[in-house]
Formats: sequence, structure tokens, C-alpha cells
Amino acid sequence: MRQFPGTRLRRLRSHPALRTLVRETHLSPADFIYPIFVVERPESAGEVPSMPGVFRQTLDTLPRQIDRVAELGVPAVMLFGIPEHKDALGSQACADGGVIVRAIQRAARAAGDAVAVIADLCLCEYTDHGHCGLIRGDRIDNDATLDLLRKAAVTYAQSGAAMVAPSGMMDGMVGAIRGALDAAGNAETAILSYAVKYASAFYGPFRDAAECAPKFGDRRTHQMDPANAREALAEAELDLAEGTDILMVKPATPYLDVIRDLRAAQPSVPLAAYHVSGEYSMIKAAAARGWIDERRIALETLTGIKRAGADAIITYYACEVAAWLRGASPSAP
Ligand code: PBG
Repeated sequence: MRQFPGTRLRRLRSHPALRTLVRETHLSPADFIYPIFVVERPESAGEVPSMPGVFRQTLDTLPRQIDRVAELGVPAVMLFGIPEHKDALGSQACADGGVIVRAIQRAARAAGDAVAVIADLCLCEYTDHGHCGLIRGDRIDNDATLDLLRKAAVTYAQSGAAMVAPSGMMDGMVGAIRGALDAAGNAETAILSYAVKYASAFYGPFRDAAECAPKFGDRRTHQMDPANAREALAEAELDLAEGTDILMVKPATPYLDVIRDLRAAQPSVPLAAYHVSGEYSMIKAAAARGWIDERRIALETLTGIKRAGADAIITYYACEVAAWLRGASPSAP
């Protein structure tokens, strides 16, 4: 048995280079996926008030943003479209010439081989009621929504998305999308499923940015109860059986146990975690007041998500942290 004083764990902490040598988790720009909001109305572009440092892009500014992502060594972006006109069917989600379709086309052209374009696939940014699917009465019609998701997935793949990311938590969505992509000749388009997505209050700032707060009710009939962890394994198993390539847990920091459980249960599957808008904005808000050291808190948070088992982290901090990591030698949080 190891015992003090023969064993002193402080020895390996005593020298900065020794700490580097025995460090178990390393953050790198290659770990990140950067979410980008693209607005149709140029007047809506600019900084999101509840998300300092996050700027909504127009179709014209998007390529520059993609160049920056590429320069920083961040390998993927996730696109969210915000159309000028919304309707009950969310028809702008896959309209030819609609903002998200054009955004994918432009981003894919700018990105080349340097950056993978991932298209978020959900209806809530496009429906006038703000829900993630078709509404019947006061409920979301799961199976009717699948048809819309099939169509949007194929449209995004054919517009240049390397991967689609269904985020609506409809049952059967991954299988429906996989089938539609394959039937349309897009067998190589990958799926990143928001497999384990909780009904979380941490999405608040995102709903400002994407103008997608539900006009009535909430998302608890389809997103998961924050109290449940075993159910996450069931969600993951189903999505894998239906053909997802990557699993995601969302949000990240309040669900590190779930990330750890999934990592253990599915050791061979790439796992992503979404460090969501509220998690980002809380750090920004406290830092703005001088209450915390932003850089150390952000690095500690993202390191924790990776240490828990995430291979990729979707975060609004992607570019900022990538710049820090490249500017200085990657240091401990
Ligand atoms: C739905 C979607 C949401 C987020 C990503 N995709 C919002 C929701 O489910 O209400 C939230 C992301 C974040 O908070 O950063 N299309």
C-alpha cells in the first residue's frame, strides 16, 4: 500500500514541467465545434445582448467568420438559421433560397476541407409558435414532424452540410433522417444526434439569439427530465440503433455524470457535449463584474467536460479559447 511519508503526491506537482508531464487531459482547438447564428435580416446582426462576444452573422459576414474558425484550428461549425418570416410549418427550414440553406451553401464553400459544416436540424427557429415540430391541438405531432425533418436533412446534405444535427428530441428522428439521407444518395452525410437533451433552463440566452422561445407551453413533453440519468442510456441506445454517428449530451456542466456514464456504456462511439448558452453567459456575466477570472474558469470548465469523457465540445467559447490556447502554451486551468 502506498503510504506517507514514502509516497508524497506533491512531488509531481512541485515543478511546472512535471505538472505538464503528468497532465491527463489536454484541451486543444481541435476539440471544439463553434455554433454560429445566421440571420436573414441584416438589421438583426450584431452582438447578442445576453451572450457577450457572440455575434449574429449575415450571409455576407459568414464566410469571414468561417475563415477565422479555420485559422484558429477549430474543425467544425454548427449553423443555426434565423429567418425573417416564420410560419406554423417552419417552411423556411428547408426553403430554397431560405437563410439556412444559403448559409450552409456559403459556409461549405468558404470552409473547404478545413472546417466541417454541421447543420442544426430542428424546426423551432422556423415555426411561428417556437416549437420543435408540427402542432396538433396543444401537442407536438411526433410522427408528422419526422417528415419535415427528413426533407430538411436531405436539403442540408445537398447544400453542403457534412453532418446534420437533429436537436428536436422527436422519437425515431435519427432513423427517419438516416433513411431519407440514404435514399437520396447521401449515405456519407453523418448524423450528430442530440441524443440526450434535457429540458433545461440553461437554453435561455440561446432562445434570445435564435428567437425561438415557445409561444405557449414548454419543451418538457419531448426533452428529458433533468432528474434522469438511466434514461440517457436508453436514448443513446436507440439513436445508435437508428444510425447516429456521434452522440451528444446537452447541457454539459450540470450533466457531467451523464457524460461519464455514456462514455463508459458506449466506449466506441464519439461523444460530444454541448456547453450551452446559459453556461457560457454565466461565466461572461460573472467575469464582467470582476468576480471571477474568466480565462481560468472557462478553461477549467471545458477541461472538466473533456475529462468527464467528451471527445468534442460545442461551445460559444470555441474561438476565444482556441486563440488563448494558440497564444500561450496550453496551460492548466
Ligand atoms: C433547438 C436548440 C436549442 C439549443 C440548440 N438547439 C434550444 C432549445 O431546445 O430550446 C440550445 C443551445 C444553447 O442553449 O446554447 N433547435
